[in-house]
Amino acid sequence: MKRILLIVSGGIAAYKALELVRLATKAGIGVTAVLTKSGAQFVTPLSLQALTTSKVYQDLFSLTDESEMGHIELSRSADLVVVAPATANILAKLAAGVADDLATTLLLATDKPVLVAPAMNVRMWQHPATEANMALLKQRGVMVVEPDEGPMACGEYGPGRLAEPPEIFSAIQAALNNGPLKGKHAIVTSGPTHEPIDPVRYIANRSSGRQGHAIAAALAALGARVTLVSGPAALPDPLGLTTIHVETAREMLAAVQAALPADIAVCAAAVGDWRPEEAAQKLKKTVDGVPALTLTENPDILAGISAPGPQRPRLVVGFAAETEKLMEHAAAKRARKGCDWLVANNVGGTGIMGGSENEVLLLTETGSEQWDRMNKQAVAQKLAAKIGEHFT
Ligand code: CTP
Repeated sequence: MKRILLIVSGGIAAYKALELVRLATKAGIGVTAVLTKSGAQFVTPLSLQALTTSKVYQDLFSLTDESEMGHIELSRSADLVVVAPATANILAKLAAGVADDLATTLLLATDKPVLVAPAMNVRMWQHPATEANMALLKQRGVMVVEPDEGPMACGEYGPGRLAEPPEIFSAIQAALNNGPLKGKHAIVTSGPTHEPIDPVRYIANRSSGRQGHAIAAALAALGARVTLVSGPAALPDPLGLTTIHVETAREMLAAVQAALPADIAVCAAAVGDWRPEEAAQKLKKTVDGVPALTLTENPDILAGISAPGPQRPRLVVGFAAETEKLMEHAAAKRARKGCDWLVANNVGGTGIMGGSENEVLLLTETGSEQWDRMNKQAVAQKLAAKIGEHFT
């Protein structure tokens, strides 16, 4: 059983550490919690103890603790040390090597990898002192789950909010190289493609890449080595995996082929079906009327990867964006593309394509299941869990 040492330092986001403990224990990861003095202002040792079902450590000089387990031993008893939330103060101490309480002493004494999830006011996060500390910590190999951007408890707006627990959990799983997909390689395509008309114009679609990116992160969270091949999407690269950026369908195909062999392929990208003949120079308005676009069919990445051959992944999952006759079109598409599973979504409804929710019908070799409408992260986790089961 893998075990983490979770240091909870102060800040309003400390309550999220409880959710993180719940996710970790549910996944079979043991958690030993250390609560700093300021952390204890926001969460109680009792709630951490109840969720971790083990003793919560708080004092450096507690004789009972030392007789049970010394601080050096405690710092090495886990596979990974996680600080969530990590305040500007604890990060500064870690950077400077200060050891003036139990948490900072453990951080200095440990011989295990360290992962931090910073949370603080935007000014504090952007202060040159914090920036210098973070650069130093990263240089030393400390892993960082970057804070989110958004409204803060203090009323300001910007980066500094603690990342959401599922994201921190994914980073933990990736750092521990844990989960049912350990040792498996997954290729995930995501986002739209841009098919150039001329040097300044292109044909695109409304795909945001949210679903594909979330699937890539969810597979990595289950221990897979993930290559995410992403079309132009306004999303940060997910942590703990390799992202390859492409623009066109043909570039996406080349990147997928270069990433093979793989055990799993999930084609969630909304690949442009056609590309125009690209003009070398910007098309100009003329008196002769509007230019005609001549379209050529793009290669079908999913059909190509599903075709029998020595490099075919053991499990190929396709997506189908449909606006009508979902089951009928999806079943026909699964057969036509030759993939094993097909995730069909009705993009006719509002707020799905480019939005944050999805309504899914999953077709497998054995039948179909309709999933309730849920957010794309939940769809990703459910699909990844099913893939995990398939490989165990
Ligand atoms: N796909 C692909 N390469 C393409 C077109 C589609 O890999 N050139 C993949 C998508 O990533 C998705 C699946 O094929 O997994 C189905 O995409 P969809 O747009 O629904 O299907 P199309 O093949 O384009 O069929 P149609 O537009 O006629 O519904």
